[in-house]
Amino acid sequence: MTLSGNVERGYAAQAPALIAQYDNVPSDTIYAPVRDLFPVAPVRVLDVGSGNGRDTEWCAALGYDVTAVDPVAAFVAETMRRAPAATILRDRLPRLRSVRGQYDLILVNAVWQHIDTADRPEALARLAGLLAERGRMVLSLRHGPGHPDRPVAVINVDATVSDAACLGLRLLRRKETGSLQEANTAAGVTWTWLVLEKGAQA
Ligand SMILES: C[S@@+](CC[C@H](N)C(=O)[O-])C[C@H]1O[C@@H](n2cnc3c(N)ncnc32)[C@H](O)[C@@H]1O
Repeated sequence: MTLSGNVERGYAAQAPALIAQYDNVPSDTIYAPVRDLFPVAPVRVLDVGSGNGRDTEWCAALGYDVTAVDPVAAFVAETMRRAPAATILRDRLPRLRSVRGQYDLILVNAVWQHIDTADRPEALARLAGLLAERGRMVLSLRHGPGHPDRPVAVINVDATVSDAACLGLRLLRRKETGSLQEANTAAGVTWTWLVLEKGAQA
């Protein structure tokens, strides 16, 4: 089985606990390193790997037109419950087959570590294709150990930035942060936030 298959089973098994846990830190605190680079609402936002729908609900409340996508049925149901005006799809990277249109902001928060290394070029190209001209993509990249039931693969940030540049995505920000979760801080988890913009000179 692929990394992705194991990841989805791990999330499905723990979904009730994770749905509660993901509200420990509010969206505006989580996105503080990059929030100033969000395009002004109302524009189209795609929340990839939306988890419990925390950020989908937050973006909808800010006036964005939000589409959310996640492969885990329990997360999709919870996102539908808390963000009824959003479009919610059950789907997964790298293909995102059911996602249509062009987005001005794509959020990929705490997801990239779960994408098989071999699938990342296709996933990045698909996301680049879903960005509108001058649209921005926010990626938070996790470093360090994962939960044993939700496997992770190492992320090479320089390679990610370089692959993005080849797709016409210019780096607007790269910021290293610690974890906002006590247990992950203790485990040595850190993050790199990237904001990439489509269409500018790479
Ligand atoms: C750590 S959670 C983050 C959830 C949410 N973005 C947040 O910040 O709270 C990772 C999410 O990625 C989703 N996920 C796992 N594999 C995925 C894939 N191949 N494509 C899209 N989402 C995926 C999981 O179902 C889960 O909701």
